[in-house]
Amino acid sequence: MIDYYKKYEDKILEYKKQGHIVPTSDLVKNSEQIAKIKESCKINTAVLDHVAANIKAGMSTQQIDDLVSSFTKEHNAICAPYRFEGYPKSVCTSINDEVCHGIPNRRVHLHEGDIVNVDVSTIYNGYYSDASRMFEIGKVSDERHRLVEITKECLRRGIEAAKPWGFVGDIGEAISSYALSMGCSVVVELGGHGVGLEFHEDPFISHVGKKNTGMLLVPGMIFTIEPMINAGKARVVLDSYNGWTIYTADGKDSAQVEHTILITEDGNEILTY
Ligand code: MF3
Ligand code: CO
Repeated sequence: MIDYYKKYEDKILEYKKQGHIVPTSDLVKNSEQIAKIKESCKINTAVLDHVAANIKAGMSTQQIDDLVSSFTKEHNAICAPYRFEGYPKSVCTSINDEVCHGIPNRRVHLHEGDIVNVDVSTIYNGYYSDASRMFEIGKVSDERHRLVEITKECLRRGIEAAKPWGFVGDIGEAISSYALSMGCSVVVELGGHGVGLEFHEDPFISHVGKKNTGMLLVPGMIFTIEPMINAGKARVVLDSYNGWTIYTADGKDSAQVEHTILITEDGNEILTY
């Protein structure tokens, strides 16, 4: 068993002495925890593949919820969102101007031309994983397709910026500089998060950070990167009726993609491919 915190403790404390924010030992996973979290991630990816194979125009978002919950149970796993802080369903389905936390509903259907984020989180043997994908339903407008492609590139650049002995802020700077250069905006209120032993752990991964700021990145850390990119303004509003769903304030489209990644000794590994 490799205990990465122990292995790098002196180096971490050296950064701390220099005034940097450093991870506590529980945020740096050991090799056994990493193996368990990877198993959870594998199932989470299979769930998303199952959604990808079945999603289509005309189906309700409740049918997506049914696909996710039955497939997850068949694999002896648990849907992490279900009853998480009172969340009523097993998955989040966010369409067009919904930024995140769209709640599946049997009266809400997917239409040709929609873009929808399906956000899946799994607990397997007590270990958590989290990832989301965008789906384009039938033929979508060039603007919507462009937003989805920009969002995927934001995630790719954010992952590329996540390196051992770098900082959380490096990720947000990489994402926001690209998004803004493409005329889009980045949601600031929500972000990625540590994941593995709990659904949401530290650190908070802002998608609008500044290089060389925030928590030090150490081999063994596992967290999500999940940029929410808006076609219009960054401002968002909370659905005060259901208490969960976040919309763009200006009613323009929003897209999001998410991976769980591991910081390794020479870069990172995407665990939710
Ligand atoms: N899956 C979301 C994330 O990426 C969290 C959703 S919380 C829920 O962090 F309760 F809505 F599921
Ligand atoms: Co997440």
